[in-house]
Amino acid sequence: MNASTPVPSGWSWSADDVRQVGHRAVDIIAEYLSGLPDRPVFQPYPRELIRALATEPLPAKGAAVDAVLDDFVERVAPYPFGNGHPRFFAWVNSPPHVVGIFAEALAAAMNPSVAGGNHAAVHIERQVVRWFADLAGFPDDSTGLLVSGGSMATLTGFTVARHRAAQRVGIDVRSDGLQGHQRRFVLYLGTEGHGAARKAAELLGIGSGNIRTIDSDEDRRLRPDSLRRQIERDLAEGLVPVAVMASAGTVNTGAVDPLDVIADICAEHEVWLHVDGAYGGPAVLLLDQYAQTRAALARVDSLAMDPHKWLYAPVDAGLVLIRDRQAARDSFSLVPSYLRTDDDPAGVGGPGWFSEYGFDQTRPFRALKVWLMLKHLGAVGYRDLIAHDVAVADRLADGVAGAPDLELLARGLSVVCFRCRPVDWAGDDQALDALNRRVLSVVQVGGHAFLAGTIIDGVFALRACVVNPGSSGADADAVLAEVRAVLSRLTDSEPR
Ligand SMILES: Cc1ncc(COP(=O)(O)O)c(C=O)c1O
Repeated sequence: MNASTPVPSGWSWSADDVRQVGHRAVDIIAEYLSGLPDRPVFQPYPRELIRALATEPLPAKGAAVDAVLDDFVERVAPYPFGNGHPRFFAWVNSPPHVVGIFAEALAAAMNPSVAGGNHAAVHIERQVVRWFADLAGFPDDSTGLLVSGGSMATLTGFTVARHRAAQRVGIDVRSDGLQGHQRRFVLYLGTEGHGAARKAAELLGIGSGNIRTIDSDEDRRLRPDSLRRQIERDLAEGLVPVAVMASAGTVNTGAVDPLDVIADICAEHEVWLHVDGAYGGPAVLLLDQYAQTRAALARVDSLAMDPHKWLYAPVDAGLVLIRDRQAARDSFSLVPSYLRTDDDPAGVGGPGWFSEYGFDQTRPFRALKVWLMLKHLGAVGYRDLIAHDVAVADRLADGVAGAPDLELLARGLSVVCFRCRPVDWAGDDQALDALNRRVLSVVQVGGHAFLAGTIIDGVFALRACVVNPGSSGADADAVLAEVRAVLSRLTDSEPR
């Protein structure tokens, strides 16, 4: 190559070229979003398309952008997993806010690595973390970072907890791992705690067999008295408690654990308290009825919260806050402590690098979407949207309570769990479970509504979780009407 070698033609985009592609993409997005309510909530991806994708070779030659986008319109856009549709009440998978959608493109246009440095993306992320830390009552010298989601936030929190627990018993876990030591490390998790904690325990070498499962009360909240007894028994036997994970909104029923009492127990026994607020965190931080829980958050050691769930950010966006900044850095930093510099405000280095406080080195500019949405909606705008979702869930729960063939099984945050029970039902629980499973699968593929399934107190339940401000009270009614219509069709057609 010499100096006259031009930039490859396929790489050169004039501003007008960029606009042309951008306008087409914006048109597609606008059509997609505005058309969602008129399309089936869900339809399985067609078999012939699955076959085509499984066999199609990598193109040797590229195609025009328009042709590629046409393919997206035909084979991708019509087959979402349902979220975004106003009658999708299944997993904690919200629709993306429009500002978040375009923020993704803006972040990608800059495409920085937010490992660290003195550039805008770093300072935006620091501001986002500080805003959440302020809401949760974490101190100014706490730390935090955006991660891929609740699972990574939990893994990050537990990593720091494990580091501290190991240090206390004289183990250098970064050098030696948990190998060859006599001490047994244990974690505490409520029966309703999210499975992400199990994965984290396994990855960290604690082992899911060393998770103490603490029973729940009748509202499916972790029982502090049982937790206290278990910790005291374990300490007496010389075990090493790593952390307690409590929930600010369980995925199954939206239960919020009694964080203030749990925080007391953890403080008394010097056990790390990690709170999983991946789903319920925003409601606890913003809604008046959770003021007591919110006050307890100021006492926890680490908090996981997912903007990509109930803050309507496009996937992915998780957040972890950690009270002890030094412990977080000691757990992850590859820079020896004597060489660490915290601030280089006028130079390239900038503030302490995010890559020293978490697992990832190259990190995306996740903060931009969260930042733009927080600025656009404000705390009050968010509070109103979340309160709307809770009100739709209330409407759903009222509808269940008022229907003779439905039975309410659990209600918390924006989750409603219920099951069908035909008025003249004479079968046993097993048959009722089977009937509810059939109702759910017919509803899911019917395209008019979408719910998830779960187990509540040993019985199969239909589970609705509302995290879409585009869902109305009428949508709640329509979902129940669909469930009841499917139930009647199934029970009319089958001998009982
Ligand atoms: C309460 C709770 N915790 C943790 C997670 C895991 O989060 P993620 O899927 O973002 O890793 C979820 C996911 O639904 C959740 O609802």
